[in-house]
Amino acid sequence: MKILKNIGVALVIGLGCVLTNRSAAQGNSYNIIPYPSALIARQGVFTITNSTRIDVSAGKFANEVVQLNELIQRGLGTKLKLGKGAKTIKLNLDASLPAEGYKLTITPLNVAISAATSAGMFRAVETIRQLLPVGLQSKTGHLKALTLPALNITDKPEYAWRGMHLDVSRHFFSISYLHKFIDLMALYKMNKFHLHLTDDQGWRVEIKKYPLLTQQGAWRTFNNQDSACMKKAKDNPDFEIDKSHIIKRDGKTLYGGYYTQEQLKELVAYAATKHIEIIPEIDMPGHMMAAITAYPYLTCNGENKFGELFSKPICPCNETTYEFAQNIFDEIMQIFPSQYIHIGGDEVDRTDWAKSAECKAMMEREGIKDLAGLHSYFINRMEKYFNSKGKKLIGWDEVIEGGISPTATIMYWRTWVPDAPVKAAKNGNKVIMAPGEPLYFDNPADQYSLYKVYHFNPIPAKLNKEEAKAIIGAQANIWTEMIPSERRADYMMMPRMTALAERLWNGNADNYDSYLKRLTGQYKRLDALNVHYRLPDIPNIVNENVFTDKAVLTITKPLADMTIRYTTDGSLPQNTSNVLPTSLTINKPVNIKLAAFTPNGSRGDIYTINYRQQSLAAAVSAQTTAGLKCDYYKAFFKQTSMIEAKKPDSSFIANNIIVPASVNAPSFALIYKGYIDVPQTGIYTFYLTCDDGGILKIADRMVVDNDGLHSAQERNGQVALEKGLQPFVLKFIEGGGGFALKLKYSFNGSARAEVPSSWFKN
Ligand code: ACM
Repeated sequence: MKILKNIGVALVIGLGCVLTNRSAAQGNSYNIIPYPSALIARQGVFTITNSTRIDVSAGKFANEVVQLNELIQRGLGTKLKLGKGAKTIKLNLDASLPAEGYKLTITPLNVAISAATSAGMFRAVETIRQLLPVGLQSKTGHLKALTLPALNITDKPEYAWRGMHLDVSRHFFSISYLHKFIDLMALYKMNKFHLHLTDDQGWRVEIKKYPLLTQQGAWRTFNNQDSACMKKAKDNPDFEIDKSHIIKRDGKTLYGGYYTQEQLKELVAYAATKHIEIIPEIDMPGHMMAAITAYPYLTCNGENKFGELFSKPICPCNETTYEFAQNIFDEIMQIFPSQYIHIGGDEVDRTDWAKSAECKAMMEREGIKDLAGLHSYFINRMEKYFNSKGKKLIGWDEVIEGGISPTATIMYWRTWVPDAPVKAAKNGNKVIMAPGEPLYFDNPADQYSLYKVYHFNPIPAKLNKEEAKAIIGAQANIWTEMIPSERRADYMMMPRMTALAERLWNGNADNYDSYLKRLTGQYKRLDALNVHYRLPDIPNIVNENVFTDKAVLTITKPLADMTIRYTTDGSLPQNTSNVLPTSLTINKPVNIKLAAFTPNGSRGDIYTINYRQQSLAAAVSAQTTAGLKCDYYKAFFKQTSMIEAKKPDSSFIANNIIVPASVNAPSFALIYKGYIDVPQTGIYTFYLTCDDGGILKIADRMVVDNDGLHSAQERNGQVALEKGLQPFVLKFIEGGGGFALKLKYSFNGSARAEVPSSWFKN
């Protein structure tokens, strides 16, 4: 990639302007995501009219011509004829180009696209799609001409696996939504669609040999997650259960649905036209309650319920289990021609296996030493079956625990087991990175999500260059327990997927500012595609504010054409709510709810902003030395309020709010205590990021409450302080699985900064 970039620089001297990855950082009018490896801007435009021809003398790329012509037809109202003409779009075969790579040259006279493969040619068509006008259709009818800016692009992906996953079990999604999902993936050059078809909450694929799987397993009475969604729907209609998936049967209301084999075959063929491979997942031996309900003989003891953490699995010690599993995968392989089949293998409650006489006998017979080994025996045996049918197996990373064959592909998800992908890579397995943080797109998005996804490095630091070749790419997962509607799924996926798409295609994270600018250009495109994306965040919101006599609220709009509307009566802002003035003076306590609205009425996230009146806290006098006293507790706490019931294991002096390397218990708590010596009188804002929880008190006032067990999240709050020493307490708990602790401040609305260590005293 870097070499191509330099060639671009050499070629362009005196001809145009080079827009490589680095110069893209200055922003440009080429709103392409993912940004190409090298892009050179040229003078002028190529104009597509009815008389433009598509030249396919290479005799290949029939599908890509159809795809290109579909785009053009949307704009011009007619397809372009094939052949040679005064102005042509020529599709060339160039076997020297990498798989999925392409070259695109646009001059005022013609367009030339070269690729070695149909996939590469299709990725080029998607680049052209992003260069064409957003709507492709004017409101008043078709256009007479479409223009493409003159340029040279040389492009190829960094990672072969650029995946998206969708769980259609926890909530069912219509087949038409899966088509839309594929369209969006294609627009951003993603290429693997992992369809999580079965789970405890629903079986979604027709299996002809076992009809009860869908007759019974595809339908449920509402469960507690459905109820949680219904509760949330009161504030946000995106949480409403989709009525089109509700039926009445025998007087009962049932919810669910499934895809017929015919529907899925058509979907696979549709995805293939976009060069997207659909990878089916039939999750076993755990997550099988929907199947066990229909076929109870699948478990070791006939039970079908949740254990301590996970549901009871099918029994790996009965031959009937293998017969059932193989019969299912035989039909799955008929539907899905993908190279890979995903067997799941995650979150298995193995306790019942230990009680089973069949399992005891099998472990003895096969020399299996523990339950993890039994789990692996099941996966390894199924892998052999897959391989005998010419397929590769993918499993979630738990499957390596009891030993795994190096030919299986491992999908890493457990952020709290950072060594799992390292172990798998060193074992010779191929690895797909899908760590929950930041790639579980069912986790609520916030103002940091895009940054985190964009800067996610698929290569674990502990792998050397050679070992890193095991990492074939990455994928974002969308688990749908709390995603009951297509609108909510759109919102969770977009625009986060665009950040992942650029990271995986481009191979570096250097162009974030340019990416954000280009993303602004993509929103209109997403509007035209009817995508209910998450609107950009309103920047610099402080949620818990204080004032002494008055304060002024000023809000920056995330996009120029948005309107900020607000309420002060606790109700949710609507399209009809008052427009927030440029600056709003606050002189009494108030609770404000505000949101940005697009011109077409879409509402962004709702922000709650509280104002409390406070007097300035008087400074105290004390004999002090540098740093805070920090007590260290080696124990597990759910809440910071529980810490002081215990005695600290040790204490040390901390000059800043950083967890030192000596604090290395798997679960722990810290209490930083002393004074903060603030240099000026006024309103201080503190921003506390914690994983898990923390609280900050200054002058005995709660400033930030970020308590509880959770992943890294920032909370902020204000306090009115007189200049001088102010009592300071920060409590922090880490439940296990990796932590984060950061404290920043701003004064009277200044930019946020680190708290200087000279401010801390005890
Ligand atoms: C998973 O999230 N259980 C793979």
